Amino acid sequence: MTKRIRFFDTTLRDGEQSPGCSMNHREKLMMAKQLEKLGVDVIEAGFAAASPGDFKSVKTIAEGITNSTVAVLARTVKGDIDKAWEAVKGAKKPRIHTFIATSGIHMEYKLKMSPEEVADRAEEMVAYARSLCSEVEFSAEDATRSNTDFLSEIFDRVIQAGASIINIPDTVGYTTPDEFYAFITEIKSKSKYLNDVEISVHCHNDLGLGVANSLAAIRAGATQIECTVNGIGERAGNAALEELAMILAVRGDTYDARSGIVTQEITKTSNLLSSITGVNVQPNKAIVGANAFAHESGIHQHGVLSNRETYEIMTPESVGLGNNSLVLGKHSGRHAFRDKVVSLGYEIDDEQLNIVFAEFKSLADKKKQIFDRDIEILLTKGIKESRDYYKLERFVINSGNTITTTASVVLDTPQNKKEGISFAQGPVDAAFKAIEQCIDRKIFLEDYSLQSITEGADALGYAVVKLRYKDRHFVGRDASINVVEASINAYINAINKLMREDDKEAESESIAV
Ligand code: KIV
Ligand code: ZN
Repeated sequence: MTKRIRFFDTTLRDGEQSPGCSMNHREKLMMAKQLEKLGVDVIEAGFAAASPGDFKSVKTIAEGITNSTVAVLARTVKGDIDKAWEAVKGAKKPRIHTFIATSGIHMEYKLKMSPEEVADRAEEMVAYARSLCSEVEFSAEDATRSNTDFLSEIFDRVIQAGASIINIPDTVGYTTPDEFYAFITEIKSKSKYLNDVEISVHCHNDLGLGVANSLAAIRAGATQIECTVNGIGERAGNAALEELAMILAVRGDTYDARSGIVTQEITKTSNLLSSITGVNVQPNKAIVGANAFAHESGIHQHGVLSNRETYEIMTPESVGLGNNSLVLGKHSGRHAFRDKVVSLGYEIDDEQLNIVFAEFKSLADKKKQIFDRDIEILLTKGIKESRDYYKLERFVINSGNTITTTASVVLDTPQNKKEGISFAQGPVDAAFKAIEQCIDRKIFLEDYSLQSITEGADALGYAVVKLRYKDRHFVGRDASINVVEASINAYINAINKLMREDDKEAESESIAV
């Protein structure tokens, strides 16, 4: 019988740990709702014990999601498990996902624990988690570099203690498909109870094998795969959800397996993540890259026009492409705009709607044609956590190819207005320097990118700024037809994020004193 493979999405936990992919509370909730629409079986909402912000995000997601299971990560530490349960207990289908490392190198150098201590701790904490939550997943971190006798012993013990999902992670992306197949088969043959529970895998992509290893695991009996949208994650990322979903949709016959993913939601989910994080996928990325369905060469175009299947193994529609329809114009009212937002699958409150509608009106005055993608960008850029410290009041740039560019930027701050004046070779550089004069923090610009959202000279320019402050990274984003304005606001957005963090730290220090 065709196996149903469960998709465990860890975009909001493992994915969010990757540089530049951090999301705020509301962005995570928006992403979680879209993941639910995409049909993922399990949403890993975060690591509740990591910070009060993570705790709050897990709790909100747990309470806002109906169909998918909401999982929360915890080390095999009582305090972590307590926090995890506190955060996830409001979910309709809660799961505690607890882990400990099992490889020799991790046990000796990271945990400084013997294998016996690790197995005892795992068993004890799984039992504790199970006393709180009806569904417990156990992960053996760095499993693929662990001993199979030890793994089968620890798995049997945690299964008896109440774990019903056993995850075998390739934490450092080291294994290969044939090896992983043999590895899982060997553990299964050595374990008494592994065949009675769900086997899960979690493959990192360091050697580019995350997806291939997950497929090998399916052949070996895994029925849950852990993955992320666009393959984001630590280092080279995790197995890409969209690739696994489409492999099962197109070639499920070779695995005798299928998923519950609503593939028509893939493009939207990928775009939403890129809009939120500002991290775009490469153009030739399978399934969601801009060129994935483009046929440039004349021979291909000719073939596709005669019969699409000459060069297309799946249709753009099957991944939800081709719906970037022309939408409203400048005469559209608030009601029509709200309908459009709802039809795009977004849920926003009245306050947010007012902000985004005002932005839409101003965009519609400047841009002839507004597409779904433009609206999506407006929607994601409108998500703010709380008040802004700095607001752009005005800027003036004087630039040309025969003069030095000068910039004057005036910022509104809670106390007063501040003006910075600077000059540089180009308008963005000059404007950023002028902004730096207005703030009393030493920040470093690490990255800046500008990209057009749709076609045409009047396309929205989407600016992403990454800055470093006290060894932490903050990403700011903004979109506007005026690309200098988008860049300035993206910079200010990143600065506002660091100001909020700084304030939170100062608050917790004063409480500690
Ligand atoms: O990569 C890994 O091993 C993990 C575990 C916590 C599942 O992310
Ligand atoms: Zn991982």
